[in-house]
Amino acid sequence: MLELKQITKIIGDKTILRNVSLSLRRGESLAVIGPNGAGKSTFFKCTVGLLQPTSGEIILDQEIIKKNSPLLKKKIGFLGHESFLYNTLSPVENLRFYGKLYKVKNIEEKSQRLLKEVGLHYFKDIPIRSFSRGMMQRLAIARVLLPEPELLFLDEPHTGLDQEAVKVLNSIIKEKQTDGTGILLISHDFEQVLNLCKRVVVLDKGKIVAETEVVDNMNLQTLKAWYEKAVTKG
Ligand SMILES: Nc1ncnc2c1ncn2[C@@H]1O[C@H](COP(=O)(O)OP(=O)(O)OP(=O)(O)O)[C@@H](O)[C@H]1O
Ligand SMILES: [Mg+2]
Repeated sequence: MLELKQITKIIGDKTILRNVSLSLRRGESLAVIGPNGAGKSTFFKCTVGLLQPTSGEIILDQEIIKKNSPLLKKKIGFLGHESFLYNTLSPVENLRFYGKLYKVKNIEEKSQRLLKEVGLHYFKDIPIRSFSRGMMQRLAIARVLLPEPELLFLDEPHTGLDQEAVKVLNSIIKEKQTDGTGILLISHDFEQVLNLCKRVVVLDKGKIVAETEVVDNMNLQTLKAWYEKAVTKG
């Protein structure tokens, strides 16, 4: 359903992505791992239409995608390093705002359900400027889920979450996977990678340097060893 062909991104005189090609079948879960500064977030931003690649093609359900394409908005949910939330608004107001932007039906009902799911129900009417990092992240997750995207791009979604919230997020992700939602996950936490994804690619210095299926006998140790080999080699 999603195909990336030779994506290159140059900013200034810096090549951040070099000929990255990747395809994702419907309902597949893929993890993108790699060192800090490898280009993972830039890669996601190009794919979700927040940045225009310098060259290369993104094809979603047979359609070539350009920056800010309406198809992207409808089908893809992106959780990035920034929360895209408004500090002066409450969780309910933030979700209402995004719901309208994405033309979501039954906004109020869906918002209430999502806020309960991520454990923010008791704080739903308080302006979020006083929220902790984990609370912000919980709300950011609710925001991404609100339009019910077919593909979820999650850039380090576990960051700042407590154990309880990690469990909640993972069970939400797994539920989405059962419904056929495709997941692309960036994470430095290999335990979560193994837990949530069937395929892993390593991005290093803007290039995909290794790719593997997560096989049944793969564990934390074998994944780490494989990763370290890929990164030192690349
Ligand atoms: N707007 C920009 N202008 C210039 N350089 C940028 C810009 N955005 C990203 N970069 C550079 O591109 C490289 C890749 O950054 P990116 O944020 O994609 O890495 P990352 O793999 O997500 O790292 P991390 O694991 O730390 O989140 C970095 O060297 C960064 O400085
Ligand atoms: Mg990043």
